[in-house]
Amino acid sequence: MQTYSGRFRISTAGAIAAAALVGASGLAALAIPAQVFAEAHQTNPYVGATQYVNPLWKAEVESEAVAQQATNPSLAAKMRIVENQPTAVWLDSMGAIAGPAGGMGLAAHLNAALSQKGSGPEVVNIIVYDLPGRDCNALASNGELPATAAGLATYETSYIDPIVAILGNSAYSSLRIAAVIEPDSLPNIVTNSGVPACQTAGPFYESGIEYALNKLHALGNVYNFVDAAHSGWLGWSSNSGPAANEFAKVARATTAGMASVDGFITDTANTTPLQEQFITGSSTVNGQQAISGTFYQYNPDVDEQSYTADMYSRLVSAGFPSSIGMVVDTSRNGWGGSARPTAPSTSTVVDTWVTATKDDRRPHRGAWCNPSGAGLGNLPTATPGGYPNSHLFAFIWAKPPGESDGSSVAIPNNQGKGFDRMCDPTYAPPGAGWNGQLTGALPNAPLSGGWFPAQFDQLVTNANPAIGGPTPTPPPATPTPVRTPTPPPATPTPATPTPVGTVTPTQPPVTPTPVRTPTQPPATPTPRPTATPSPGTAKCSASLHVDNQWGNGFVATITVFNTGTVATKTWKVTWTWSGNQSIVNSWNAAVTTAGTAVTALNMSYNNVIAPGGNTTWGLQAGFTGTNTLPTLSCSAT
Ligand code: BGC
Repeated sequence: MQTYSGRFRISTAGAIAAAALVGASGLAALAIPAQVFAEAHQTNPYVGATQYVNPLWKAEVESEAVAQQATNPSLAAKMRIVENQPTAVWLDSMGAIAGPAGGMGLAAHLNAALSQKGSGPEVVNIIVYDLPGRDCNALASNGELPATAAGLATYETSYIDPIVAILGNSAYSSLRIAAVIEPDSLPNIVTNSGVPACQTAGPFYESGIEYALNKLHALGNVYNFVDAAHSGWLGWSSNSGPAANEFAKVARATTAGMASVDGFITDTANTTPLQEQFITGSSTVNGQQAISGTFYQYNPDVDEQSYTADMYSRLVSAGFPSSIGMVVDTSRNGWGGSARPTAPSTSTVVDTWVTATKDDRRPHRGAWCNPSGAGLGNLPTATPGGYPNSHLFAFIWAKPPGESDGSSVAIPNNQGKGFDRMCDPTYAPPGAGWNGQLTGALPNAPLSGGWFPAQFDQLVTNANPAIGGPTPTPPPATPTPVRTPTPPPATPTPATPTPVGTVTPTQPPVTPTPVRTPTQPPATPTPRPTATPSPGTAKCSASLHVDNQWGNGFVATITVFNTGTVATKTWKVTWTWSGNQSIVNSWNAAVTTAGTAVTALNMSYNNVIAPGGNTTWGLQAGFTGTNTLPTLSCSAT
């Protein structure tokens, strides 16, 4: 009966850990604390508030910290800082509202949030994400509802109404609910209406969002934040102007008009760094504009701080009150680590200079799927200082770090999700600016929303600001005047009436797009530097982690650890299925089966594991009944 959502699908280990973590909040029989207070609708809900830490995500992170503990204790320690950060609850299907059996639905999350709430306000970030014809210009996050009148009716009555019924329960009136409205949708109307699926879906997106805004805004403690893509998608004035108008058109159609929107969120549907260190929209290289290069394609908004400032002023010009605020999803827009430039390039050639100077290490700004080399961005923060023109309400983590953007190979599923080649590391996209480069997507990725430990390891390793490191550059003294009603810009520029869907050759055709970072091997954990190659016996152990599971199949990552004192020359992992699983596909190991017995041998390229190090391989399998996981044995020479 339930439709499983990738978001809530966790490994057996994760489920147990989550249950433990959730235990205190009581999934079923929670005694709801007496209502502490119900307050007037705020301008910025994040002010003075703590935010809800999703115990399911925390359990995923903890399982990875456990996996890293022996071989990379410093990474594990960082993960234990990260796991206490708030992340959003994705309602990415009708089934996610009630939640899967034994898991958490919306009410369980709100109950847990009440338990976490102290005497001050508590914000719960939820993502409303189930429009008919979802993700019309890509495949990885296609959804369950068709872009038809019937699909829209189902969206309204079986998705939005049940959410509103739960949120409207007076038990939750002391919580502030920040609802991120439908990532990826209205921006697709602006730039991709030439794409047939977007042409069909567009009117349903507008009607569905109007309905959602109306119903959610009617609840005084709900704050609506509409998705405004990111700078690499809408930064060109020929896109940002029409986008502001499109957002205004939808808001104006609601009963409360512009007041139904509290603000906008960027960097959830693809990301851009918050602030490039050495590049601005007016940088020049040997007398030429840096943005004239292939990477920026004359987009003046090279980063999110410039884009949010630009978009804020366009939104106010388009009719939104100046009290609206911008929120940046900083869950994966940091580019720290060893590949982060430390100085601008000395080249006099624009493209060479940009490539070596930019923090964003992707090959193309449209590389939206699991980009190799990315890191966590700023930790969730209310009213971050330093960017007064952006009217920032907050940095939040809307996309939970370590949850995949899409599978790197086709994976059968019952969630409506497709295989998008942008998630395939072997694919060289056509299109302006790609010039034969590969997507840069990480290999072995599970379905969108599935837990992807290798990606998470990388995000934590490459975090910028570094986790547990020195406090980031102090923001300028002037606090962001987000709540001060500033007058709209003197001369409101009417947005250029670019015909919707016209994508000029200088614009990225679509959904955002990473830079293959050849310098950063995707998921190879750092070998422990202290290991000494003294003579000894090669030894190993192995563990299996279910990354994603659906009705009758799953994808797992197997980690092979060198537990000896010499590097391995060969390794072999074996087990016997105790249930009725059968392997459909595997990668990075040579797998053979005989009945229920499985033998996996190293490949020629991953045979050597340094002492203390590890390597991973993966498999996809089908099963019937219960997916009982096996005990693994490992031997090495
Ligand atoms: C997926 C959702 C998932 C979300 C958060 C999206 O890309 O389509 O199913 O809940 O990411 O990880």
